[in-house]
Amino acid sequence: MIGPAHHIGIAVRDLDAAMERYRAFGLSPGTVEIVPSEGVRLAFLETGGVRIELLESLQPDGVIARFLETRGEGIHHVAFATQDIVAEMARLRDAGFELVDREPREGSHGRRVAFIHPRSAHGVLLELVEEPVQHR
Ligand code: CO
Repeated sequence: MIGPAHHIGIAVRDLDAAMERYRAFGLSPGTVEIVPSEGVRLAFLETGGVRIELLESLQPDGVIARFLETRGEGIHHVAFATQDIVAEMARLRDAGFELVDREPREGSHGRRVAFIHPRSAHGVLLELVEEPVQHR
């Protein structure tokens, strides 16, 4: 099962400057984290609803660097939670989605994530984030 919405990823050239800007906007950035598998430095903004993930590239040929080169700063992906990422990946592959990843990879906070190519999602890069069942 897909959902709820998990976060919106925004590609930025300078994470510290972006954190400062969003702090002025009224949102508090969490701790800065480096995700080696993605080649990014990132911080989440807590909104009380859908989180915002600010992404800065650590490598000149990384996905975020290439995105910035062609599209400039802005919304990079939209992420949705799922409780069983492997099952969802299989379901979406069967439903005709083009997955960027064959296997889940390690994302921020050690969560398992996978991406769906924008070609098969009307121009939007979709991310799946595995989250255990939440009890409230
Ligand atoms: Co993300």
